[in-house]
Order: sequence, then C-alpha cells, then structure tokens
Amino acid sequence: MVMATKHSLQLLAMLIFLISLLALTKPTMADDDIPEDFSSSYFPDDFIFGTATSAYQIEGEATTKGRGPSVWDTFSKETQKEYWMAAMETLQLISIIASKIGAFCYYFSLGHSSSLEDKYGGFLSRDIVYDYYEYANLLFEEFGDRVKYWMTFNEPWSLSGFSYDYGVFAPGRCSSWVNRQCRAGNSATEPYIVAHHLLLSHAAVVQLYREKFKPIHGGQIGITLFTFWYEPLSNEPADVEAAKTALDFMFGLWMDPMTYGTYPRTVRDLVGDRLPKFTDENLSFLEDHMIFLGYNITLHIMQNQMLQLIQIILDTKPIIILPRLVTYDYDGNLIGPQAYSSWFYIFPKGIRHLLNYTKDTYNNPVIYITENGVDNNNNETQPIEEALQDEFRINYYRKHLWNALGSLKNYSVNVKGYFAWSYLDNFEWNIGYTSRFGLYYVDYKDNLKRYPKDSAKWFTKFLKHSPKKPLQSNKIYEVTSRNSRKVGKYYIM
Ligand SMILES: *[C@@H]1O[C@H](CO)[C@@H](O)[C@H](O)[C@H]1NC(C)=O
Ligand SMILES: *[C@@H]1O[C@H](CO)[C@@H](O)[C@H](O)[C@H]1NC(C)=O
Ligand SMILES: *[C@@H]1O[C@H](CO)[C@@H](O)[C@H](O)[C@H]1NC(C)=O
Ligand SMILES: *[C@@H]1O[C@H](CO)[C@@H](O)[C@H](O)[C@H]1NC(C)=O
Ligand SMILES: *[C@@H]1O[C@H](CO)[C@@H](O)[C@H](O)[C@H]1NC(C)=O
Repeated sequence: MVMATKHSLQLLAMLIFLISLLALTKPTMADDDIPEDFSSSYFPDDFIFGTATSAYQIEGEATTKGRGPSVWDTFSKETQKEYWMAAMETLQLISIIASKIGAFCYYFSLGHSSSLEDKYGGFLSRDIVYDYYEYANLLFEEFGDRVKYWMTFNEPWSLSGFSYDYGVFAPGRCSSWVNRQCRAGNSATEPYIVAHHLLLSHAAVVQLYREKFKPIHGGQIGITLFTFWYEPLSNEPADVEAAKTALDFMFGLWMDPMTYGTYPRTVRDLVGDRLPKFTDENLSFLEDHMIFLGYNITLHIMQNQMLQLIQIILDTKPIIILPRLVTYDYDGNLIGPQAYSSWFYIFPKGIRHLLNYTKDTYNNPVIYITENGVDNNNNETQPIEEALQDEFRINYYRKHLWNALGSLKNYSVNVKGYFAWSYLDNFEWNIGYTSRFGLYYVDYKDNLKRYPKDSAKWFTKFLKHSPKKPLQSNKIYEVTSRNSRKVGKYYIM
C-alpha cells in the first residue's frame, strides 16, 4: 500500500466533462468543405463530448497542502502558481459530476511519487507493478461507484521516451550522448524497461478491474496513448517503411502488446536483446494470454503530430525512439502551420489517418479521443480582450472534429468520444506557463481570473445543437473561484 498512502486525490490527473461554459453566441466561419452548420448533431447520439484537464498542470506545488511531492516537483524549475484552491474545487466538483453523469478519470499521468523513485527507481523496477496494482485497487474501492471510465496510464510514451530516452521530463535520466544534462541513465535500455513495466502494470490493473470491480460497477477501463501520426515523405518504399517504423516505436510499442501480446516486428528487430520479453512473467495476477486482449484505448492526439519523415538514420545511435523528423516536404513546404510548441504542426487530416490506421491494424478497438487542442504563446503584453480572440483555435477544433467524424461515418471507426484540450490555460510541463492551451483564459497577473475565449463560446454552441447529449445541463455553471459556494463537503461552481 505504499503508493496508496503517498498519493492523495490531488495527485490524480483527471478528465472532466465540460458543463461549465457560458451560453453565448458565436462565430461560425466558412471552410472549404465543412458545412456551415457543423455541430455535435452530426455525431451519433451516444457520442461523448467533453473537455480535459490534469491535476498537476493546474494544482500548484506540493508544500503544506496535502499532496506529497512528485518527481515533477523535484525536476521542474518553474514554481507553479497557486492553482491549489481552484484545483481543489475542480476535484470536488468532479465527485459531484461523476455521480451525476459519469466522469473520465485517469490515475497516473506524468508524475509519480518521489518516494518510489528513491526507494527502487520507480518504473525501472518491476516492484512498481505490485505497488501500482495496490494503488489502483484502492482507487477502485474509493471511487469505483462514481467513476465509470478509468484509464490506467496517460501518455506512457512520455515517461519512457521523454523521461528515460531524452531526459527532458522528470526524473530526467538518459545517456550523455543523447543529452549532456543527464547525470545518470541509459537511453539504450531504460526506455524499454520502463515501457515494459508500464505495460505489465496496465495489464495487472485491467485484469483486477475486470475481475473484481467491473461486475459490481459496470465501468470501463483502458489506456490513454499519445502519438504522432507519421506521414511518409513520399510513396517510395523506404519512406513508407520509415513512417511505419516511427509509428511502431511510438504507438505500436503499446498497441501491439495490448492487442497481440508481442512488441512490433520493427521494434523487435531494431532493439534486439535490449527489449524485455513478455514470456517470463510469473506474477500471480498476470495471465499473459488474456490480459492484453479486448480492452479499450483512448487516443490522445492532442498535438498535431503529423510530422513528415525521411529515412531513419539507424546506425548513428544505438537506439532510436523518435526518429529523425522533417516538417517540410521535398519542395520545402511545411506540412502545416506551426503552433507555439516547437514540435507542433497543424495537420487535421492526420487525426483521420491515425483513426483509420488504428481500426485496420488493431482489430477495431473502441477509441475515445481524450485530448485534442492547440497552443499559442503567452504574450505578456497582449491585452486580454485580444487574447480571447482565438479564431485559430476554433478552426483547429472544427477541422479536427470534422476529420474525426469522417473516420467514424465514412470508415466506421469505433470512435466514441472527443475531449478538447484544454479546459483552462495551464502549466505545460517543460515550457511552463509560456504556452496557452485553454478554452478559458487564465489571468496569471490577477488572481487567476478566468475568461472564456471565443473558442469556449464556439464549443458551447457546437455542443448545444444536440438535444440528447448527457452533457446538456439546464444549469449553467460559471467556473470561477469567486462564485463557488460550498454545499456540504462539495463546492458548486
Ligand atoms: C469497452 O468499451 C465498450 C463500449 O464502450 C464497453 O461496452 C466495454 O465494457 C469496454 N470494455 C472494457 C474492458 O472496459
Ligand atoms: C517468479 O516468482 C519467483 C518466486 O516468487 C520470484 O523469485 C521470481 O523473481 C519471479 N520471476 C519473475 C520473472 O517475475
Ligand atoms: C504580443 O502582443 C502585442 C499586442 O498585440 C503584439 O504587438 C506583439 O507582436 C505580440 N508579441 C508576440 C511575440 O506575439
Ligand atoms: C463522407 O463521405 C462523403 C462522400 O464522399 C462526403 O461527402 C462527406 O463529406 C464525408 N463526410 C465526412 C465527415 O468526411
Ligand atoms: C481511412 O483510411 C483508409 C485507409 O487508410 C482509407 O482507405 C479511407 O479512405 C480513409 N477514410 C476516410 C474517411 O478518411
């Protein structure tokens, strides 16, 4: 129960349904082939819409306020703003929402408790599997009656790749030939060990849920994967193979084991002996042949992704997790406009390609898109009124929703939900508060006041068009710290 006691509710990263937008009018813009009246009514009645946020990215630092330190507190150089109160309200609100309409919840994001890092190296050790299992068991017991959608992990690739290959995310381990700032680590082996333990933890927890909790609570469990879509630079076999290899290292690394019980061929061939095997598992709660089959995924294709790719240079490094990428085609044209984050190029068709590919390659799983959104820079001198005008974000959402709809309607992909990232401007990991992803603007200079951007108003309108959506509440909640009121143990906002 080590993890259970170290983790507080505040550590959980969560996705919540959006029920809070103010009713307002707004701008529909023409687009080449997207109908003027495009709205949620184009989607099936049981399609779920929402917006997403994450506790660490809004909750403030660990100090005296009840949350134990996570590896990000040790790693992050920028002090988090005091988001604590707002986050507490949000979490308490989640309990209310969860009991009313069901909430998505994922219980491990990029951070884990520092104590486990100190004790046995976190996910480098197989011990994490048992502790994680115990931790999940506690959460299912505590919240299983209210939370109906569980995700074992959010972006496991970010942990194995960014943290253990590049060393740019906490706990910042890697080989010095990858990143000179790393003091310890091994980029040739550790990313795969961590990935393996993440997969085993996932498997154990899925099994636990299915056997012990699903029969009682009837909820669902899956995993949230973050991936780029790799567009081949040309139809040449070498380019096509390169794109496939890159996708296998980022997406297949998780999907293949969970669907077929083995790592992708490309990964096995290139990583060789450094890749752990699934066959020697003997943990009592693991039964290899069944645990990986038939579960639901949630794709997290927030950032578009869609980097074009030329041939991977395999012999320069002992391992490649993220291959060499180009964002231009052979003629020097960018694949799409750049957002604020340096790796982020907007390519709305990519979401459709990825959804179609997932259906074709992995037996048509149930898919929820848990985070999809775009950032811009936090321009300190820009007046707020101007910052609220985020037409580019509205365009981004419209085009991505349209392409997701295309894969659903015209290719029968089993996509069942879409969550816009993010509900609020927040702490964007290694680039901190310089980036704004929110539908709501947060004024960091004035008591964290929040203002709906044009995109928030647009999204409200987009959702309003469907009478049967469970999200359509008669009550309009305005989410501000100022207006919240306490009812029993909960805050109503
Ligand atoms: C997967 O999703 C389907 C459809 O939403 C659901 O009926 C099923 O119970 C889910 N499976 C698991 C293992 O959660
Ligand atoms: C298998 O179980 C034994 C006894 O519990 C343990 O010592 C060993 O480390 C386990 N092996 C693996 C690969 O988990
Ligand atoms: C910040 O906003 C101001 C006011 O609109 C504008 O003049 C300036 O170009 C912006 N700077 C950046 C880096 O976007
Ligand atoms: C589905 O295909 C039809 C026929 O090609 C096309 O008119 C329509 O725009 C497509 N729908 C979406 C959402 O892409
Ligand atoms: C989905 O992808 C498949 C194969 O990648 C393609 O044949 C099909 O046209 C795509 N459908 C849509 C609606 O994009």
